[in-house]
Amino acid sequence: MNTIESTLSHPTSTTPASAISVCDLSHWFATAEGTPLQVLDQINLEIPVHSIAAILGSSGCGKSTLLNIISGLMTPNQGRIAINGIYNDHSGPSPHVSYMFQEDRLLPWRTAQHNVEFSLEAGSLSRQSRQEQACEALALVGLAGFADAFPYQLSGGMRSRVALARSLVQNPSILLMDEPFSRLDALTRAQMHEELLRIQQLKQMTIVFVTHDVEEAVVLADQVTVLAPRPGRIRSTLAIPLERPRDATSTTSSQYIKELKSLI
Ligand SMILES: Nc1ncnc2c1ncn2[C@@H]1O[C@H](COP(=O)(O)OP(=O)(O)O)[C@@H](O)[C@H]1O
Ligand SMILES: [Mg+2]
Repeated sequence: MNTIESTLSHPTSTTPASAISVCDLSHWFATAEGTPLQVLDQINLEIPVHSIAAILGSSGCGKSTLLNIISGLMTPNQGRIAINGIYNDHSGPSPHVSYMFQEDRLLPWRTAQHNVEFSLEAGSLSRQSRQEQACEALALVGLAGFADAFPYQLSGGMRSRVALARSLVQNPSILLMDEPFSRLDALTRAQMHEELLRIQQLKQMTIVFVTHDVEEAVVLADQVTVLAPRPGRIRSTLAIPLERPRDATSTTSSQYIKELKSLI
């Protein structure tokens, strides 16, 4: 193939209005029996810059696998991902993207401050800059007074805030979150939703979060993509053009919740 043909059939960039473009993505895992287990099938998804997108689906339908692939931690068997208009070259996670995992993954022997600094240790920042940025990130999530606390001294909500600070300290333009608040009680989860919306506005980030909680998707997201299981494929993407803050019990929210529940 000559260079022009090659460029046409394998473009290196896409529309920058999308923070994330997922193009014809399919993925399967090897199994002990030898038959590949297909987990994702022909996923196409555009996530606009500065928006909040939810990926909603039942357990096992491929949500975490999709997020792992978008983050660059996993390479798909088929298809491509563009981040801010540039296709991933599979050389690893993009520097623009932070990933907040389902478990908080805090290091128990490190204070909140040192857990947040951990995210910066691979870079070239001086120790003082790392300390300053970690302090700022902890203040951003409302934990300025808890820098010296160890994880065992913190409540579930506070641990979530430390994990969020650790994701934010690198100043990502895109934040991926895998069911980040699923272990919290309802009240604490609602507080974390408010915090997240405040920080997203302040930092003008794009957020993609995975959830199996329909109410959470409607309260937070600008668009909700419903995945159908075995193999995971997109059943529908629904825009939620409601003003914020949203109340999951309002009539309009309830209509979206009902519609999404019928799609799952
Ligand atoms: N590394 C892996 N090897 C083999 N199977 C996997 C692996 N990771 C996930 N799976 C399988 O892929 C399917 C989707 O998993 P996952 O993406 O974690 O779903 P979800 O996050 O929606 O619960 C499940 O059946 C799971 O058992
Ligand atoms: Mg999962």
